[in-house]
This record gives sequence, C-alpha cells and structure tokens, in this order.
Amino acid sequence: MAKITVVGAGNVGATCANVLAFNKIADEVVMLDVKEGVAEGKAIDMMQTAQTLDFETKIVGITNDYSKTADSDVVIVTSGIPRKPGMTREELIGVNANIVKSVVENCLKFSPNAIFIIISNPMDTMTYLTLKATGLPKNRVIGMGGTLDSSRFKYYLSQALNVNPSQVDGTVIGGHGDTTMIPLKRLATYNGIPVSQLLDAATLDKVVADTMVGGATLTGLLGTSAWYAPGAAGAYVAESIIRDYKRLIPCCIYLEGEYGQKDICIGVPAILGRNGVEKIVDFKLNDEEKALFEKSAEAVRKTNDILKEIKAL
Ligand code: 2OP
Repeated sequence: MAKITVVGAGNVGATCANVLAFNKIADEVVMLDVKEGVAEGKAIDMMQTAQTLDFETKIVGITNDYSKTADSDVVIVTSGIPRKPGMTREELIGVNANIVKSVVENCLKFSPNAIFIIISNPMDTMTYLTLKATGLPKNRVIGMGGTLDSSRFKYYLSQALNVNPSQVDGTVIGGHGDTTMIPLKRLATYNGIPVSQLLDAATLDKVVADTMVGGATLTGLLGTSAWYAPGAAGAYVAESIIRDYKRLIPCCIYLEGEYGQKDICIGVPAILGRNGVEKIVDFKLNDEEKALFEKSAEAVRKTNDILKEIKAL
C-alpha cells in the first residue's frame, strides 16, 4: 500500500497528483495546501474522473493538517511561489526557503521514513536546504530538475529531428537554472544514433539553447511557470521509487566527491529505487562539459550561500 503526499495544490502539485493517480503509482495521494478548500476541491474534482479514467487511487485534499499525511512513503514538495515572466528561479529564494523548510519539517514529523522529492524553486537550493535542515540521509532527498530538463531536451530534439519523441534520448545535468543546466549534446541519441550525425551544429546548439530557457519560454507564454511537465517529472521520479524500477534519472542530489564536487545538491544521473538514490552514475565528462559543470556548481553554490544570509540555514 503506497501513500504519497503532494504539498502544494497549485498547478504543479495538482498535475503531479493527477498523474500519480492516473498512472496508478500510489494507492493513496494526499494533497495538502495552505489555501482553504483548494486541495479539497481539486481532490474531489480528480476523484470524479476515477471512473472515466479508470483508476482506484484515493485522492484526499487537506488544508494544513499534516497529521493526514502520516506514513507517506514519498513526499513531493511543490510549495512556494512560482516565477513571473522575466524572473529567474533564483529570485524566489527569499520567499520559498522558509516555506519549504517548514513544509519538510512538518511532513517529517508524521512520515519519518519518507523520501522527499523537491520541485519548489530554486530547486537545487531547496533540495540542499531540505537535506541540511532535516539532516536526512542523502538517499532520501531528491530534486526533480534534471528529469524535467531532460524531458524538455528530448522534446526539442524530437522537434528538430521531426521524429517520435519516445525514440530520442538525452540527458541534462548541472543546475536547474536558465544558465546553469547542461544539455549533453554529445551523448544525445535517436534510437541509438548520435544526434550529432543527424543535425548540423547550429541546429543542435539551438536545441540546447531552447532547452536551457524552456521554463522561461513557457513562463513568458503563460504568465506563470509551467506545470504539466514539472508535475509529470515529479510523478516519474516517485514512480521509480515506489515501484523500485531503478530507472537511471538525471536529478538533483547531494554529491560527496562525485563529478569533482562536494557539499552541493546538483543534477547528475542516478539510479532511483525503493531506497531513493541507490547509485550515482559518475561517468566521464569531456573537458568542455567538465568546465560547464564546474561553472554550474559555482552558480548553485552562490544561491546556496543566500540561505545563510536569510537565516534559513
Ligand atoms: C520549470 O522549469 C517550474 O522550474 C519549473 O518549469
């Protein structure tokens, strides 16, 4: 019997809960929000699709009562404010740090064994904050940024190649920021064929650039940040954990020397199973990628430093 709590019933949280139910990933999904009635209303709305969409997951909406989240196997944190057009994810830290900190502490009181998936932005720093504020072991705190960024990379690749997206493979490592993420164009493939043999350099560079600002482009179109792909990415990470699929997923995790970095949560490929992070796959980057990764880590660290300035850590 798997139970998942999704904190925040806004666009991302609600989408995530919906995908969890529709894909039958959990037996029970609890959605919790601070706004009276919102989680309850969305949960009932989703439950009214159970028959038409054919799922048996029980979705429960709660306002602020963390006791109802008790004994969750996985907690997905989407709380906080989203960015507005023109804002970076990093600018959200002042508001979101204290929200995320109190959310994870409250959840932990009732679900001491839960694995945490962080979606709130700035995602790398919120993942680091969760780990440091709770003292949880590193296998139980995972940020979903690379999962989302890789799905956007694969989308843009499939558009440029004009092919079925499910046959495209690509990985994004580094921070989940417009200038910090690193779509690994060298390793991207179409059904095993390196995409560098199918796309010219300028097209491939455009795919990389579009991926990096994928979230910002949508924020510009929507007036707020995206939700379908972020929500689905959170559910995808949860599925690998709950079902012990041991998928290799790019995600934000605590490094202790891997990729030459320490004391930072940043995107790298990891195997996710019932124990959360089961293995970090530390493969060899070329010199250009290594330099980009170092620059990315430096930028993430700068944002992490703000946690001390605002006394969140
Ligand atoms: C995004 O990139 C919300 O960070 C999320 O769309």
